[in-house]
Amino acid sequence: MIISHARPADLDNIVELERSGFDAAEQWSAEAWAEELSSPDRYVLARLDLEARIIGVATFSCVEDMADLHRVIVRPEQRGRGIGASLVRAGLDWANAVGARRMLLEVSPENHAAVALYRRLGFEPISTRRDYYAPGRHALVMLRPLRDGDAWAVECA
Ligand SMILES: CC(C)(COP(=O)(O)OP(=O)(O)OC[C@H]1O[C@@H](n2cnc3c(N)ncnc32)[C@H](O)[C@@H]1OP(=O)(O)O)[C@@H](O)C(=O)NCCC(=O)NCCS
Repeated sequence: MIISHARPADLDNIVELERSGFDAAEQWSAEAWAEELSSPDRYVLARLDLEARIIGVATFSCVEDMADLHRVIVRPEQRGRGIGASLVRAGLDWANAVGARRMLLEVSPENHAAVALYRRLGFEPISTRRDYYAPGRHALVMLRPLRDGDAWAVECA
């Protein structure tokens, strides 16, 4: 399995992945993903299986020294095998390489798998954004410091 840059041609596969990963109310639209894939300030990674099918995707950005993790999704039947971690680690490597000093993300505190994944990779909660997802649905803000030489090996299981 390899990690590569996602391309606009991957849109349909990524939208399918999005639908497998989130309830309808939380899903990004096809238009939002198309914008993500075509935007020069986004770094979108796809994890492929041996048949070159996309089984995971993650998208990042970086402004000055602050990187953001916007989304990470792994196909349900492929979860628990280190794929989400490999995508986030690849994004951390990229953020380091482009000079970021921190990576930030928002996550629902009820999304236990995602919170555990982020904690495992060194993110710590720093605050809460109230009503971030909807009225009464708050987001946990998590931060991970970066530093030179803090590169992760990209695992290819
Ligand atoms: C969150 C998500 C991306 C994790 O992907 P994954 O490939 O299953 O995660 P990994 O196998 O790389 O797990 C890495 C670590 O995360 C933690 N983790 C992942 N899933 C977990 C779960 N269901 N319960 C508890 N811990 C979990 C573990 O600490 C794990 O490390 P370990 O196996 O060494 O203990 C996946 O569950 C997913 O796609 N969810 C739906 C979309 C989503 O909510 N995305 C996050 C918000 S954008």
